Amino acid sequence: EHASTRICAVSDIPEDDGLKVEFPDRSPLAVWLVEDKVFVTDDTCTHGQASLTDGGMLDGFIIECGLHLGAFDIRDGRVESAPCTKPLTVYAASVLDGDVYADLV
Ligand code: FES
Repeated sequence: EHASTRICAVSDIPEDDGLKVEFPDRSPLAVWLVEDKVFVTDDTCTHGQASLTDGGMLDGFIIECGLHLGAFDIRDGRVESAPCTKPLTVYAASVLDGDVYADLV
C-alpha cells in the first residue's frame, strides 16, 4: 500500500503545458494539464539531465526535450523520438478538490 502525495493545485498548472514541482527528497516532477486531464511524470529527461518543463516543448501529449529534441508521450512515458531510449516514468495521478495527487512509489 502507498499513500498519495499532494503535488500542486490544478490551478497552478498552465493549460496545455507543464509545471515543475521540486521536492527536498526526490527528483523533480512535471505536472501536465492537457485537454483538462492531469499527468504526472519525472521532470528530468531520461537521456540527459535536462528539465522537460524548463526547456521542453509540449505538443499535444508529446513533450519534446529542449536539449537534444528527444520526445516522450506524457500519457504513458513511451519514447516518441530519439535519442531517448528509456521511457519516462509516469505516476498514477488523481485530482481531489482541485488538488493533484500522485502515487510516487
Ligand atoms: Fe533530453 Fe538529450 S537530454 S534528449
